[in-house]
Amino acid sequence: VAHFFRGHLLQHKKVLVTAGPTYEPIDPVRFVGNHSSGKMGFAIAEACFLQGADVVLVAGPSSEKLNYDEIKRINITTANEMLEQCKTEAPTADIIIMNAAVADFTPVQQATQKIKKEKSESEWQLTLVKTTDILALLGHSKLPHQYVMGFALETENELKNSLEKLNAKKIDSIVLNSLNNAHAGFGFDTNQVTIISKNGNQEVVPLKSKTEVAKEIVVFISKEINA
Ligand code: CTP
Ligand code: CA
Repeated sequence: VAHFFRGHLLQHKKVLVTAGPTYEPIDPVRFVGNHSSGKMGFAIAEACFLQGADVVLVAGPSSEKLNYDEIKRINITTANEMLEQCKTEAPTADIIIMNAAVADFTPVQQATQKIKKEKSESEWQLTLVKTTDILALLGHSKLPHQYVMGFALETENELKNSLEKLNAKKIDSIVLNSLNNAHAGFGFDTNQVTIISKNGNQEVVPLKSKTEVAKEIVVFISKEINA
């Protein structure tokens, strides 16, 4: 893909994007994870690059590949590693787009050796502790010139819950992933979203490829930062 013709919507902007799932280790061979493929976040990183931005992608375990070597990809595994990389990269970012499906809970302790089933009865309890909400942390510590976008995955009360997340995390906008469409969400190449800004702007993006959805997200952000 030729990219000598890059747009200028995000020229001179540093964008931090998170993508993919996180894996929270239980023991050396097992983890707690989720079905995120990373496709949407990778598409967003590329769409930002193609509009002139300097892009850093903090990615959880994903088989996705980037088409542009100029994008700085930082691979992490756990929510805590994602937090550390975001803390390093966020202060110099102008735009932060948190698409990752970060684990909300992680095992309290990680066994150093494989946990053996013989040591347990028929039931076995795994104790989890809450992870830091990276988006909320960056939203609350947002610098004056920064624009922070989050994502929301809901199975009920979609708009109400998304707005609550937007307000609670003190962010500029939130992208609601619609699970009402059979071709949207985890693993699919297509997605259907609603972008909601704190200013009340709402944009319904109909079902299209994640590459096209990513372009719409970039256009939405560029309008907001230039408003
Ligand atoms: N997020 C994050 N760090 C976490 C958990 C979530 O940065 N530890 C971010 C996600 O990247 C996403 C947003 O928060 O941008 C919303 O994630 P979501 O799972 O929809 O909401 P939660 O606030 O985690 O609440 P819940 O899962 O209970 O709906
Ligand atoms: Ca969550």
